[in-house]
Amino acid sequence: MTLTDLSPSTPHTSEQIQKTRVILVGIGGATCSGKTTLAKHLRNILPDSFIIHQDDFAPPEATLPIHPTLGQDWDTAPTAIAWPRLRTFLHTVKRIARIPDDHSSHDHLNEQKPVPLTDSVAERWTTEITRVQKEVEAASGTRVVWGLVDGFLLYWDQEVVDTFDAKVFLRVPCDVLKERRKKRSGYATAEQMNTEGAFWKDPPDYFEQLVYPAYVDAHRSIFINGDVEQGSPLLPNLVLIESLELSMNDIVERCCEELIAVLRKPVATVTGEVQC
Ligand SMILES: Nc1ncnc2c1ncn2[C@@H]1O[C@H](COP(=O)(O)OP(=O)(O)OP(=O)(O)O)[C@@H](O)[C@H]1O
Ligand SMILES: [Mg+2]
Repeated sequence: MTLTDLSPSTPHTSEQIQKTRVILVGIGGATCSGKTTLAKHLRNILPDSFIIHQDDFAPPEATLPIHPTLGQDWDTAPTAIAWPRLRTFLHTVKRIARIPDDHSSHDHLNEQKPVPLTDSVAERWTTEITRVQKEVEAASGTRVVWGLVDGFLLYWDQEVVDTFDAKVFLRVPCDVLKERRKKRSGYATAEQMNTEGAFWKDPPDYFEQLVYPAYVDAHRSIFINGDVEQGSPLLPNLVLIESLELSMNDIVERCCEELIAVLRKPVATVTGEVQC
């Protein structure tokens, strides 16, 4: 986590708290594991929060590798994300405590079928986190801002992993992922030259032959015995959520418990990193 001065462009008065602590929360998992759905519920609960969608950091379409039978490969970890751009972006967010003005997301172009959260659960956690956040802000003299990072390749690049203060992973069985993916009409892509984006529809067998094997390959190293489907996490402090076994209320509760624990951690014992 980073303590940062408010950027010079942020208007503030002497009464306002001068320092800002940015808590970055990774919400990882396979395609269609429910990352964006969960990130949006958490954004509605957490005061001063925003979402960063890793899909916005896909490289330009023309530079993607071409699979011999399936066409463009959007999923193999080393080439699926413009890693230097994502790393720089996350460091910038930590420093300026907001999404840079020149960043635009394509997430709004994607369809999203809602999975509701009970109002009383949302209200209870909003109240509780707001209360704890105010206490922590008053005691430390720092404002807290939350960045929720939603992505299918969050725990592959060590520099990206190191930016997270909390790490959540949604695990869903392959057959369920496949069914959910089939029901999607496709994906708006973060095509850099066209602000309306382009649209990607999976060719036949794309999930089975490319998406799922690439997901397993990219996540072997964070599970014991490389067992992505059943293994316990190797990555320290990874909150593993078997999301098919839980209701949305339970998933959100598990995350909120973790976020309160992170919020309460004294900053100096977390990283000691202070940028002025
Ligand atoms: N907990 C859940 N229970 C049942 N269905 C869910 C759950 N979470 C999400 N879904 C459904 O699964 C589909 C994918 O959800 P979502 O878009 O949140 O996944 P995602 O992980 O962000 O996928 P992608 O990486 O492809 O963007 C949607 O149709 C959503 O309604
Ligand atoms: Mg998504």
